[in-house]
Amino acid sequence: MFYKLGLIGYPIEHSLSPWIHMKLLEETNLTGSYMLYEFPSDSFQNRLESLKMENLVGFNVTVPYKQKIIHYLDSLDETAKLVGAVNTVYNKNGSWVGYNTDGIGYTRALYNTYPNFYKNKENRILIIGAGGAARGIFFALAQAGFKNIDITNRTLSHAENVAKISADINTNLYSLKDVTKYLAHYDLIIQTTSVGMKPNVIETAISLDDIRPSTIVSDIVYQPYTTQLLHDAQNMGAQLLHGHLMLLYQAQYAFEIWTKQSVSVEKLMEQLKQKLEGR
Ligand code: ATR
Repeated sequence: MFYKLGLIGYPIEHSLSPWIHMKLLEETNLTGSYMLYEFPSDSFQNRLESLKMENLVGFNVTVPYKQKIIHYLDSLDETAKLVGAVNTVYNKNGSWVGYNTDGIGYTRALYNTYPNFYKNKENRILIIGAGGAARGIFFALAQAGFKNIDITNRTLSHAENVAKISADINTNLYSLKDVTKYLAHYDLIIQTTSVGMKPNVIETAISLDDIRPSTIVSDIVYQPYTTQLLHDAQNMGAQLLHGHLMLLYQAQYAFEIWTKQSVSVEKLMEQLKQKLEGR
């Protein structure tokens, strides 16, 4: 079988997904391709109809189409429904099924880096942000059994919407300013907004005034490899979780959906880090 895969989005010329998925095909001894389909928004529907003719096994979806694509799919898995965004499509005998692999990608990165964190489901977690990525991560952490997940966001009503995803979670909501008073409470702080992403590399969504060295500080931004928030956390002696790991594990999960094969991403971690650091 030839695994014809790809990515739709705009712009996508700098995407790391072709590199990752070609490595995963190599690792599993499968043959296939991963093509970029850069669709300008004025021709999205036509281009998607032509894509259907190409009979891909599956494809990823990125900005700005993660929500727009839903209208063109035949069904959605539970996570994609709850998150309201799709980043992976699987062609199941001609019908397109939408998935969202961000949350599982994140929890796999966390579990594989800090397995001990999973031993205490009472650990206190703070999510910064309330967009699609935050929704996926909140849901995946709730599914994993964590009980205390607070949210801080610029717009509090968006944070309220995220909290509604799972009623059994204890959730406090804070403004970006107020939350700084409580940072010492947290065992894990997860930054899910685009703040700090290249070229705005000196920005941080919150200031990390008072965290404990045992706290894990995690940023889903991976360009730059070490964001300002992670630099600040490192200076305070905290534990770090870099964003490229979520990128690798969400790709791993997408690859499993398409090929039904398990594949390890450990070997790619250092290579991806070097690529991001421009080495
Ligand atoms: P994604 O789907 O990638 O998570 P998104 O849905 O656009 O992206 O979500 C963006 C998140 O980043 C939101 O939490 C947004 O805050 P608002 O809900 O107030 O819009 C947050 N965000 C984006 N730019 C920000 C900025 N400059 N400062 C603070 N938060 C920001």
